[in-house]
Amino acid sequence: MPITEVAKIWMDGELVDWQDAQVHILTPTLHYGWGVFEGIRAYETPRGPAVFQHRSHMERLHRSARILQMEVPYAVDELMQATRELIRINDVPSCYIRPLVYLGYGEMGLNPLPSRVRVSIAVWPWGTYLGEEGLANGVRAKISSWQRIGSNMIPTGCKAAGVYINSSLAKVEAIKAGYDEAVLLNEHGRVAEGSGENLFVVKEGVLKTPPLSEGVLQGVTRDSIFAFARDLDIPLVETPLLRQDLYLADEAFYTGTAAEVVPIRSVDDREIGPPGPITKQLQDLFFAVVAGKEPRFDAMIDYVQS
Ligand SMILES: Cc1ncc(COP(=O)(O)O)c(C=O)c1O
Repeated sequence: MPITEVAKIWMDGELVDWQDAQVHILTPTLHYGWGVFEGIRAYETPRGPAVFQHRSHMERLHRSARILQMEVPYAVDELMQATRELIRINDVPSCYIRPLVYLGYGEMGLNPLPSRVRVSIAVWPWGTYLGEEGLANGVRAKISSWQRIGSNMIPTGCKAAGVYINSSLAKVEAIKAGYDEAVLLNEHGRVAEGSGENLFVVKEGVLKTPPLSEGVLQGVTRDSIFAFARDLDIPLVETPLLRQDLYLADEAFYTGTAAEVVPIRSVDDREIGPPGPITKQLQDLFFAVVAGKEPRFDAMIDYVQS
């Protein structure tokens, strides 16, 4: 997806002109993928832009960094403050937000510890990731021949830059085979998640998703769905899922910051069908909350204008 340029990018406390937001070619993160990032969205609301689950994302950024022994030189509150300022200065009504914690120029080698930790935050307008058609009618998913990394390969709770080679291999394979998105199985052959999304199924009125111990990322949207399900009295269980549970699901959907809440129409060409009632209820509530239209969930959104 092409990037739409805006005026400024935040780099280590400075607001830098978009074109000047550069790093040296010998920046170690470019070579080894040792870095962590977040994907966050701000949505248009009647009170101006608001960042969905802002604190949870920045807290996950800190957790990811901690797993990789990178000390983030900015506290969660400072990163949130910087992001709000960046959205105001760039004057975007809604946007994608990309904080990145990386190793700065100066050292090279497989030991990342001597490198200086750098932080950047970029924002830009970004439409829906799997398309309007996918949001409305569901996407076609394919089980990937690529396995989701295991937690003793690279810690699965860490949103590390290098991990996304695994996701991209699966994504490219799915797209080239004519599908919209992949489903990755874990090292035990059970369902993990999409290339950049968590996954839920509905069976006989019960919402099911794999627990974190299956090697899935702790999605902020996934956590939000848990809260929405409680609110809507939809029973939810975290349980391991087999491939056949996808084939036999009454409903299925992906969740993620980029993808939002997207129904899955088929898996491996086995029809699940058009978006079902529980998927639609959760999707509607999600879009109402992010747009600031559900005051009881106002704690989930962070208004950019104070
Ligand atoms: C591998 C993976 N799983 C799940 C998710 C969903 O996480 P979130 O809802 O926090 O965006 C993402 C996106 O960040 C991801 O990259």
